Amino acid sequence: MKMIHRGAEAVLYRSKWQGLESLVKKRVKKGYRIKELDVKLRKERTKKEASLLSDARRIGVLTPKVFSISDFIIEMEMIEGEKLKDVLNDLPEKYEIIERVGEIVGKLHSSGIIHGDITTSNMILRGDDIYLIDFGLGFHSRSVEDRAVDIHLFHRALESTHFKYLNQLWKSFLRGYRKTCEDYEEVISRVNIIRKRGRYA
Ligand SMILES: Nc1ncnc2c1ncn2[C@@H]1O[C@H](COP(=O)(O)OP(=O)(O)O)[C@@H](O)[C@H]1O
Ligand SMILES: [Mg+2]
Repeated sequence: MKMIHRGAEAVLYRSKWQGLESLVKKRVKKGYRIKELDVKLRKERTKKEASLLSDARRIGVLTPKVFSISDFIIEMEMIEGEKLKDVLNDLPEKYEIIERVGEIVGKLHSSGIIHGDITTSNMILRGDDIYLIDFGLGFHSRSVEDRAVDIHLFHRALESTHFKYLNQLWKSFLRGYRKTCEDYEEVISRVNIIRKRGRYA
């Protein structure tokens, strides 16, 4: 297997599953955590990620198909494309794409799914399709606060990687989010409260 990425929590390899290109995501030991806790967290996040990938897919959000799962490993469909983070700034259609990202996140929230780590690093653009990955910090919730935090983190991600286009990207994101998310007004006013909290803390 060829390693393609080493993240904070997981190592990712390119592999083959029943003749199909696959991606193996293996959560690795973290030495700074107590062993029992470390094993528990890695198992939980692996299980959670696999089930949320499937839940999201069921409601029509594009995610890699899960091929197999064991304690610390998910083998999934390899999505050949570009990480959105790497290409967004240079794409003339960046605003349309981010509006669609907003629709996708709104759809997740309306179905009671919180992603937990919405960034353009966790999106892959394949042709015209936007795939969402990396659900390890996700969970089920319908609370306005959880939705607002999810989106607030995305704003922070845009600030750090797409600063130049921040305001317009954020507007486009909200335009899309509004189309598919129930309780839009409530969530957005909570996001603004969270932003102020951060600023004066
Ligand atoms: N199914 C996939 N198909 C193609 N590339 C993937 C897939 N899953 C992950 N990757 C690549 O590996 C990187 C890290 O994967 P990710 O699940 O986000 O783990 P991490 O927790 O380390 O961020 C992604 O940013 C992406 O480039
Ligand atoms: Mg990631």
